[in-house]
Amino acid sequence: MFNELKEINKKPKPFEFYTAAELWTNEYTAEQMLQFHLNEDVDAASRNKEFIDRSVEWIIDNFKVNGNTKLADFGCGPGLYTTPLAETGAKVTGIDFNKVAIDHAKKVAQEKNLDIDYIVADYLKFETEEKFDLILLVFTDYCVLSPKQRKVLLNKFRTMLKPNGLLFMDVQSIEAFNKVEEKAIYEKNQLFGFWSPDDYYGFVNTYKYEEEKVSLDKYTIFEENRKRVVYNWFQYFDIESLKNEFEENGLKIVEKFSDVAGKPFNSNSDEIAVAVKKQ
Ligand SMILES: C[S@@+](CC[C@H](N)C(=O)[O-])C[C@H]1O[C@@H](n2cnc3c(N)ncnc32)[C@H](O)[C@@H]1O
Repeated sequence: MFNELKEINKKPKPFEFYTAAELWTNEYTAEQMLQFHLNEDVDAASRNKEFIDRSVEWIIDNFKVNGNTKLADFGCGPGLYTTPLAETGAKVTGIDFNKVAIDHAKKVAQEKNLDIDYIVADYLKFETEEKFDLILLVFTDYCVLSPKQRKVLLNKFRTMLKPNGLLFMDVQSIEAFNKVEEKAIYEKNQLFGFWSPDDYYGFVNTYKYEEEKVSLDKYTIFEENRKRVVYNWFQYFDIESLKNEFEENGLKIVEKFSDVAGKPFNSNSDEIAVAVKKQ
């Protein structure tokens, strides 16, 4: 018992483990995630509907999305952005490794008679010869990746962008990092049964890595016959660290905002959204 508790409370090195698939593609949590995406009132898995409607409208307007636009949405989930963007006539590709979410997105596209190219894939491994005018990575998904994985993804984006193409994405800021508090919680059926339909006991340990500006929610879940550990990493940025990361990978920031609905940039905001071009 003592050794198990020691293991549960062990702080790993930043980004030591990548368990995103366990969170998004596990047979039970994938379905749970779909329900979160489709809950229009909360910011969980996807942001709330009011925000997404505003964000899509602003993206269409700001990036002049129309019938001539080729667009890719990385981590598109059930298509809350891809669906309305395809309604402009744009040629849209959506990539996500949660098959449950993609199946839902395909069903919506069929009902609305939209020709959207949905691909079930890990976007860190996804390859294509196609070139895009606009690439989206929305709801701070960039932050959950290690420095190595972010490099892989930025290199993909650079090769997939047309010469004047844009990447539009958001991250959490250092302001948000400063609000994170370390904690250790133990709860039966933690997160209201999110992890399993059966009874389980869940621990969550939140750690901060001050120097690296990284946080971790480490979930240790015990079911009767299974133990799972899921690591939810988060890298926080200021505009300078973001700028440097893009420049190291042949990209440059051309516009900055405080959210993906075009809120004017403010260095005190919890979020930073950027439009990025090839250098
Ligand atoms: C926070 S959600 C955001 C969904 C969508 N962008 C939105 O705002 O509605 C992140 C999405 O990225 C997907 N995802 C996470 N890591 C991925 C990976 N390595 N490859 C493909 N999809 C991934 C998840 O399945 C999930 O649908």
